[in-house]
Amino acid sequence: MRIILVGYGVVGKGVTTILARRYAEKVKDYGFNPKIVAIADIDGAVIDPRGLSPEKLEALKQTRPISSDPEFGHPEMSALDVIESVEAEVVVEVTPVNIKNGEPALSHITKAFKTGKHVVTTNKGPLALAMPALTELADYNNVYLRFSGTVGGGTPMLEFAKRCLAGDRILAIRGILNGTTNYILTEMSQNRVTFQEALSNAQKLGYAEREPSMDIDGFDTACKVVILANWILNKKITLKDVDRTGIRDVSLQALDEASKRGNTIKLIGSIDGDRPTVKPTEIPKTNPLCVSGVLNAVTFSTEFAGEQTLVGRGAGGVETASAVLRDLLDIRHKLANRLLNNNSES
Ligand SMILES: NC(=O)c1ccc[n+]([C@@H]2O[C@H](COP(=O)([O-])OP(=O)(O)OC[C@H]3O[C@@H](n4cnc5c(N)ncnc54)[C@H](OP(=O)(O)O)[C@@H]3O)[C@@H](O)[C@H]2O)c1
Repeated sequence: MRIILVGYGVVGKGVTTILARRYAEKVKDYGFNPKIVAIADIDGAVIDPRGLSPEKLEALKQTRPISSDPEFGHPEMSALDVIESVEAEVVVEVTPVNIKNGEPALSHITKAFKTGKHVVTTNKGPLALAMPALTELADYNNVYLRFSGTVGGGTPMLEFAKRCLAGDRILAIRGILNGTTNYILTEMSQNRVTFQEALSNAQKLGYAEREPSMDIDGFDTACKVVILANWILNKKITLKDVDRTGIRDVSLQALDEASKRGNTIKLIGSIDGDRPTVKPTEIPKTNPLCVSGVLNAVTFSTEFAGEQTLVGRGAGGVETASAVLRDLLDIRHKLANRLLNNNSES
């Protein structure tokens, strides 16, 4: 499987690390033979049609910009040029999130589809803004779009619902889907610090961005709600369909009062009924969803199996890259099945 990697930051480097580390095992267990034939970032690209060697991938981690590599560097090439001109089966799209217009990822993904390439992405932006259209475009071009790392980081929340609960009917989904806001609310309730103090601690620890709106105003959680709603519940919604309230106005007093009732306040994304919501919500401390710190948790309410809750780390470079590897294996599996079906028909 030839792979073009677009974006070479925390997750992109995690992908090359994981592929190099698990390479021999995956070839043995799954006949999965991944080759990174190109990496494109904002400054250009490196391209080796035979696949960049593990030694080269390791060396590139120290090369800035990567396109200055004397053997394989192409400083003049944009990611779109690379997607268009380099032969590959899959594009792994891991550029920064943008919820205003989804770019540059939206163009990368549509270019990949139009040139017959499957896409694995961890980027919520294009999905939150245009998931129904993107899944349709993938179908139209007969390619796969996978995005396991967009919800839950390395924790397989999407696959759990899609595969393990197949056959049951999922009636509702509720979750703590953002580690930054969960850290802030946990700090406030357990250590009695104000919202501002907890936010600044989160920023010092690298859990929150200097511009924290995406997390604390609930946009990140809302993006994940959109992805869950489309993928698991087949609801054709986008970001504008989610009612969203962030955590800026959660006070210590409100947390104290909740605590007297044996409860606490969490930022919950919920798809239950007509309109998906993101809002600070009082839940019992004994609820399995009630996880601390940067952890994420999601509860699927099902018709037969009852409530199933999955807990895990919702972010991290290598963790999220492990979701990319899962998606690549899923595509590999689907392609192998396609081949079998075609052979049995012919
Ligand atoms: N990190 C996590 O734990 C995590 C977890 C789940 C999902 N995600 C998502 O995964 C994606 C990647 O995250 P990250 O943490 O790896 O971000 P990152 O460290 O900021 O890396 C993004 C990379 O994309 C490059 N880039 C920017 N614009 C580009 C363009 N037009 N063409 C090609 N490359 C471009 C950047 O280059 P420069 O550095 O030169 O600008 C950088 O190499 C994001 O959408 C993020 O929301 C991340």
